[in-house]
Amino acid sequence: MSAPRGEFSSRFGFLMAASGSAVGLGNIWGFPTNAASNGGAAFLFTYLFLAFALAYPALMAELIIGRHAKANAVTALRSLARGPRTAALGTAVGMAGMVTVSLILSFYAIVSGWMLAFLVASVADIMRLPSVSAWLTTTGVVRDVIFTAIFIVLTIFVVSAGVRHGIEKWATRLMPSLLIILVLLIGYVMTLNGAMEGLRVYLVPDFGRVADTGLLLSALGQAFFSLSLGVGTMLIYGSYISKHENLPALGGMVTLLDIGIAVIAGLLILPAMYVALAGGIEIYNDDGGLIAGPGLIIAVLPAMFAQMGEAGILVALAFFLLMTIASLTSSISMLEVPVSYCIENHNIARLKAGTLIGVVVGLVSLLIVYNFDVLFSLVVSATTEYSQPLLGFFFAVFVGWIWHRDGVLAEIRQGCPDADNGLFWRIWPFYIRFICPLAILAVYGQMLFG
Ligand code: PHE
Repeated sequence: MSAPRGEFSSRFGFLMAASGSAVGLGNIWGFPTNAASNGGAAFLFTYLFLAFALAYPALMAELIIGRHAKANAVTALRSLARGPRTAALGTAVGMAGMVTVSLILSFYAIVSGWMLAFLVASVADIMRLPSVSAWLTTTGVVRDVIFTAIFIVLTIFVVSAGVRHGIEKWATRLMPSLLIILVLLIGYVMTLNGAMEGLRVYLVPDFGRVADTGLLLSALGQAFFSLSLGVGTMLIYGSYISKHENLPALGGMVTLLDIGIAVIAGLLILPAMYVALAGGIEIYNDDGGLIAGPGLIIAVLPAMFAQMGEAGILVALAFFLLMTIASLTSSISMLEVPVSYCIENHNIARLKAGTLIGVVVGLVSLLIVYNFDVLFSLVVSATTEYSQPLLGFFFAVFVGWIWHRDGVLAEIRQGCPDADNGLFWRIWPFYIRFICPLAILAVYGQMLFG
């Protein structure tokens, strides 16, 4: 327990790290197509509302617990317990979060490995090595194993350097680059034939869809995954925030950055898809919806880049660099969860903990790669659809029902001295006690029985 704890050096450092965690594959392959298929701007407003009404309060719960305890999820939750039973619940939730986030990392690393392979493929194209590029962009177990491993090593490399010199340093470098690449790509794609149609599909609201409960619930699930909730990631990042910082404001900024980048990503993805359509590429799946997820990133968009000739090579390079950055700033936040636990509770050195857990996660990835058709979607839905919201429920219960209200307020007042007079304290405690748990249960019920 004696290892010195890391802390973010500045507010900017935390914001980059936390928004880096939040902004990931989920924002780029999920949000834009989800919005376009579900009422365009109408979905956007629903999502904005849900993100602020439900996901933001849940994010705040994790940040506040983390900074209060200045410890990993297991220790932090146990420290709020009122007796042996709630302490055991704390251990269980913390452990389950660790297992969940490690499993998320194991499939995330595979997809991120594809991003890396496509990135290297565009370098090979620039160097006029078509056979290398063809190998890198063709599905194959060997390719997947190699690039998943490289991606995990990159993740270990950053996490092993520590909170300030690894996570914060790389997030503050990578996140601004991500934004610049995104804006440049949007500027270019907008000039192409078909882009305006994509923009129309994305932004013209169809308010008839907002009342659809299935849509509401899936938007909530998306918001939870996108804000990295339920698995202790935001809790551990919160534990590295200085006591002088205003938590409600910081959490609000992270939420805004995450949503903002998802919305901006839509300005790239939808126009790009309709440029592809104008070029004769299929962008709809069998159900008539827009192709989303991995299929969008490794089939639709590459086909479009290929049609663009020489310029397409550079656009592909920029795009897969963007995806790799988005993945890496998320994956480091995942690995940090079990690593911080091993350091603090088992006195294992950071490098050793990172390597050990990285290897175990890599072995699980390997298992998934070799049994892809059976395991991939199973692990994705077990972790992101079932485990994450359920754990989010327990985090809300810990803050809303187990932790004493005075303790919560005392923590928020550090860095925000008149919190008890502000809007946040008037609304949030009620949300985290009643609305969040009930809404999560509703999502859950809908998923199990709906
Ligand atoms: N928020 C990340 C994304 O949108 C995924 C993530 C989930 C990251 C859980 C950390 C923990 O891709």
